Amino acid sequence: MRTADKLNNFKAYLGPAMNQKLALMRTEGRDVINLGLGDPDVTPPEHQLKALAEAVSDPDNHHYPSAYPIKPFYDAIANWYKHRHGVEVDPETEVIYCLGAAEALFQIHNCLLDPGDTALVSDPAYPSYEAGVKITGGMVEFYPLLKENNFLPDVDNIPADVARKAKMIWINIPNNPTTATADDGFFIKLIAWAKEFDVVVVSDNPYMDICFDGYKPPSFLKFPGAKEVGVELNSMSKSFNACGWRVGMLLGNKEIISGMAKIKSQVDRGLYYPLQVATIAALTGPVDWMEERNKSFAERRDVVVKAWKKMGLEMMTPRATFYCWGKIPDGYTSKEFCLKFLDESNVWVIPGSTYGEGGEGYVRISNAQPVERIAEAMERMRRFIS
Ligand SMILES: Cc1ncc(COP(=O)(O)O)c(C=O)c1O
Repeated sequence: MRTADKLNNFKAYLGPAMNQKLALMRTEGRDVINLGLGDPDVTPPEHQLKALAEAVSDPDNHHYPSAYPIKPFYDAIANWYKHRHGVEVDPETEVIYCLGAAEALFQIHNCLLDPGDTALVSDPAYPSYEAGVKITGGMVEFYPLLKENNFLPDVDNIPADVARKAKMIWINIPNNPTTATADDGFFIKLIAWAKEFDVVVVSDNPYMDICFDGYKPPSFLKFPGAKEVGVELNSMSKSFNACGWRVGMLLGNKEIISGMAKIKSQVDRGLYYPLQVATIAALTGPVDWMEERNKSFAERRDVVVKAWKKMGLEMMTPRATFYCWGKIPDGYTSKEFCLKFLDESNVWVIPGSTYGEGGEGYVRISNAQPVERIAEAMERMRRFIS
């Protein structure tokens, strides 16, 4: 069998293989704590479940999605963005569904890049950006996210020849894995830079509703000129406790949205109608429950940050995301550290190097378990490194 050479250019996503390994460890009777997962222990609120269950039970709701009007779904997304995030988008031309942000973040490379074209991807970064560029035949230029710059992109440090060559740049703020957040000035400067070098900005923003201590991460689309230079991806996964739904949305620049609509009409043929109904219920229903949910994530975060600092290790206090990004002790690579910790203490945290060389020396901890389990994991960490 001859498969494509490009399969050798990228790695498979780590999650499924790791989940299998942890499940096997559990069958051996080991008390495993999984703080690797980006899919927390939270569940969708009752009204979302009810809307989905009712829509699924209707026998008329199981045709191809094109059999149903998409307008109410896009109206709900546009209204959500307007009222929650202060962004105006035209639901007819500036919004498109996706099958989780993950699907659009792959397909968007087909929309923006021809073979050999360059995309700017941060190091460290969510691994699917690099994989998506490579699967679609593009070239990756990495730009660093440095601690001295609070792990934010520094467009002034991207050489002009690289910027001129690049067709797109990925940004992800609040960031997975570093938890970095940015103030308004960052986005304003980014848009001016994108205009100067004619680079499309793709803002991956699935964590914007997981935020703490009164901080509210902005949408990239909120800033003047953003829609001229880019798009934003969002998703029901993290904001609405619905990782399994595989419902996301891409918003912004009309040409990009229309290109994506053309690609997706051939590739996936739409979003299962009951999921559209459930998403409308989520976006138009009560959202006060999010505050409690975020308080619980903040409580977990505090346990991790406090324990980490008590061990004499560095960690920023995240203003958003349910992750923590911690420096590890000298003497290990991050992969060695995590595998040894898993083997000896039955706790899984993700090596920073999974996200690129720039993540070496760090681990990503996902606060995806109840606070007591997180406290237990931190106690095991304390014993492990002492
Ligand atoms: C930065 C980032 N982008 C995209 C995704 C994919 O999200 P979705 O579940 O909407 O596909 C994730 C999931 O963890 C993520 O961390």
